[in-house]
Amino acid sequence: MDGPVKRARLSDDVDDGNDLEARVKKAYTGKNYMKERPPFKQCSSIMFGLKEEVGVLARTLKLFEEKGVNLTHIESRPSKRMPGSYEFLVTSETPPSELESILSALQDEVSYLQVLSRTKDSDAQEIPWFPRKIKDLDEYANHILNAGGELESDHPGFTDPVYRERRKYFADLALAYRHGQPIPRVTYSEEEVKTWGVIFNKLTTLFKTHACQEFNYVFPLLRENCGYQPDNIPQLEDVSNFLKDCTGFTLRPVAGLVSSRDFLAGLAFRVFHSTQYIRHPSKPMYTPEPDVCHELLGHVPLFADPSFAQFSQEIGLLSLGAPDEFIEKLATCYWFTVEFGMCRQNGEIKAYGAGLLSSFGELQYCLSDEPEVRPFDPEKTSTTPYPVTKYQPIYYLAESFQDAKEKLSAWAAKIPRPFSVRYNPYTQSVEVLDQKEQLKNLVCNVKADLTILSEALDKLK
Ligand SMILES: [Fe+2]
Repeated sequence: MDGPVKRARLSDDVDDGNDLEARVKKAYTGKNYMKERPPFKQCSSIMFGLKEEVGVLARTLKLFEEKGVNLTHIESRPSKRMPGSYEFLVTSETPPSELESILSALQDEVSYLQVLSRTKDSDAQEIPWFPRKIKDLDEYANHILNAGGELESDHPGFTDPVYRERRKYFADLALAYRHGQPIPRVTYSEEEVKTWGVIFNKLTTLFKTHACQEFNYVFPLLRENCGYQPDNIPQLEDVSNFLKDCTGFTLRPVAGLVSSRDFLAGLAFRVFHSTQYIRHPSKPMYTPEPDVCHELLGHVPLFADPSFAQFSQEIGLLSLGAPDEFIEKLATCYWFTVEFGMCRQNGEIKAYGAGLLSSFGELQYCLSDEPEVRPFDPEKTSTTPYPVTKYQPIYYLAESFQDAKEKLSAWAAKIPRPFSVRYNPYTQSVEVLDQKEQLKNLVCNVKADLTILSEALDKLK
């Protein structure tokens, strides 16, 4: 899906001009083309570890009852913070602002405590809810910001009942999808394949000269392994399996726009939310929203590159539990990198952003003398305004994906978040690092890895 969420002009039709801009503004308020997500039902989640005492769990649960806090969900699991003990996650429909008395009562029983909130309360200091396990991404599968199958009145397919029916079909597939299921295979119509073919044939004439070397390394592999051909629209399931083999990235079908926070959270798990429908056949070189051409031709090749995958995941990890203003900054960094990024390779500037690699017109324009190219600097990049209905006047240049990741991490140290997070690929979960014991365990793991590295180096000698 288009990046956080950003729904940009993914087109070569720049002449729609003011009219398009006005219509887009009407349809999608906010400079990032995002809508605020609809408010979740008020709820709070409390995560806590218990002291090792007999009867402590019963006492703790009794406290909730005494304080009139009705629990809607209780979950226990081995604690990652305190190995050998258990931790509990309880959810209540009581908002965090009314939890004061239970939190204070809990302090005597617990070894640690954390409150996650799904309410928007600017005075509260709660950490915004974020997924801990990859399966938690199902939580917001239906929290899309538009109606999925419904189209705005300015959409090229708005008056086409067959296209609208088709969009509803794709929206329903995505809405029903849950983590762990294979992505449904789709039989694309002759007309849909023809639209894909037009775009495929035009774009592939530019890739060798305009795309970065990582993209050009992967693209032939996609032809060989995933059916990237002018007369075939690849299946998301095949592409997802290919990416999983390369970098652990997977695709997840999505019915429409998700919020920046939710979209970025997916990247933390190396999950990319992808549309499966194709644009309207009347305008093959224009789409007002991300579609399968943008995802497969623009985004997918780079997710097979280990360094780019790591950079993308880093943006996702930094977003977890971050305040709203930082989410917006991270989404802007995403815009200027994953969507519209350029990089320097062997003294030449090449494109790696998906918005560029999926647009025949902008891919040529971005490498011309017309736009301004600035060095990627998250401090400045994250606050740079950008247009969404015309070619970008400014692009940011990364020296390498590794360099961009390091700069991003250094800048992100300023995010006011009282903990660090780490992705555990074995459990496909995010670990919140805020306990000494947990960090000691991590150090042991790192030591073990260093031993392996050291032995390997000795053998090479
Ligand atoms: Fe995108």
